[in-house]
Amino acid sequence: MHALTENQQAGTAPANGAPPSDAQPAFEFRNLHRFFGKLKAVNNVSFKAYPGQVMGFIGPNGAGKTTAMRILATLDLPTAGDAFVEGLSVVDDPDKVRRILGFMPDAFGRYPNVNVIEYLDFYARAYGFRGNRRRDAVDRVLTFTEMHKLAEKPIDTLSKGLSQRLGLGRTLIHDPRILILDEPAAGLDPRARVELRELIHLLAVDLKKTILISSHILTELSEICDSAAIIEAGKILAFGTVREIMETLSEQRGRTATTLTLRVLRQAEALERLLLEQPFISQVSVAAETVTFQWDGDDQRRAQLLKLLIGQGVEIVEFSGKTENLEDAFMAITEGIMQ
Ligand SMILES: Nc1ncnc2c1ncn2[C@@H]1O[C@H](COP(=O)(O)OP(=O)(O)OP(=O)(O)O)[C@@H](O)[C@H]1O
Ligand SMILES: [Mg+2]
Repeated sequence: MHALTENQQAGTAPANGAPPSDAQPAFEFRNLHRFFGKLKAVNNVSFKAYPGQVMGFIGPNGAGKTTAMRILATLDLPTAGDAFVEGLSVVDDPDKVRRILGFMPDAFGRYPNVNVIEYLDFYARAYGFRGNRRRDAVDRVLTFTEMHKLAEKPIDTLSKGLSQRLGLGRTLIHDPRILILDEPAAGLDPRARVELRELIHLLAVDLKKTILISSHILTELSEICDSAAIIEAGKILAFGTVREIMETLSEQRGRTATTLTLRVLRQAEALERLLLEQPFISQVSVAAETVTFQWDGDDQRRAQLLKLLIGQGVEIVEFSGKTENLEDAFMAITEGIMQ
């Protein structure tokens, strides 16, 4: 899974996900609007990503993710506003933009009587590669996706996981610097999801691609994204690094409570009473040997609580805290607006 190197650029995203102040954005939506009749599918969307960033694009069904991504990929035109790829307008310079960016749609056509290598070769030709360059491009993608052994396999016999892998490969055929991936993990089983995530990780970290990736599988996105935009009913509700979005969430909730879970060997009922007497604890609930409660204290007090419980003879098997993830942020920030 290596060797996709023809057209790399130096990644400049710092480890904390904050953009370098002097860099040109890799892509940018600027006051983008796309209306279908009265429906405001994309309604004044503005955000940008810098080279090397992996940005999540999160929103419920019908939020406008695909519509915005298709415009960035030059497959549709905005009603108003614009989008830019390395400073080039997708409206004014679509041909140049297509050389820089690869778009992986959420669904592919499945052609009969075409095998994997023929499929990739078709796209290499479509991008104008000839001779050795064409062979090298196909070979590079087969190597990266580890599909050499499947080169002769008809594509309509591939599993969903392998189809998605091939779809990602097709997106990489011209070695684009920027990748737009529309729900690449949808419908994949857990193993295929992990494998896809590894490929995306390689693309980001080793090959320094800038990636915009949409998904409903929010917990997975939080592991691979350094920043995210949350969209609902065509509008951006939150944007920033994953940490900033979590902070927005905490502010919106007006508290910083963590859910703590305790699993004990026995005496869960007695533990409930003991916990209710302690400060910083609320909403205690018991289910079999597991006790869950809200915790408002700091880490030092949390350590003291654990010490106290052990001192009282509680036989603790697990003591864990659930910090809020992107899924919680998504549920807290979006409202389930239908339009
Ligand atoms: N060509 C079209 N004509 C009319 N309405 C459209 C068209 N394309 C999209 N829409 C509408 O625009 C809205 C946004 O759709 P879009 O596909 O961008 O959402 P999405 O966030 O990608 O949703 P999903 O998570 O289901 O893929 C939806 O209400 C959709 O029905
Ligand atoms: Mg979509």
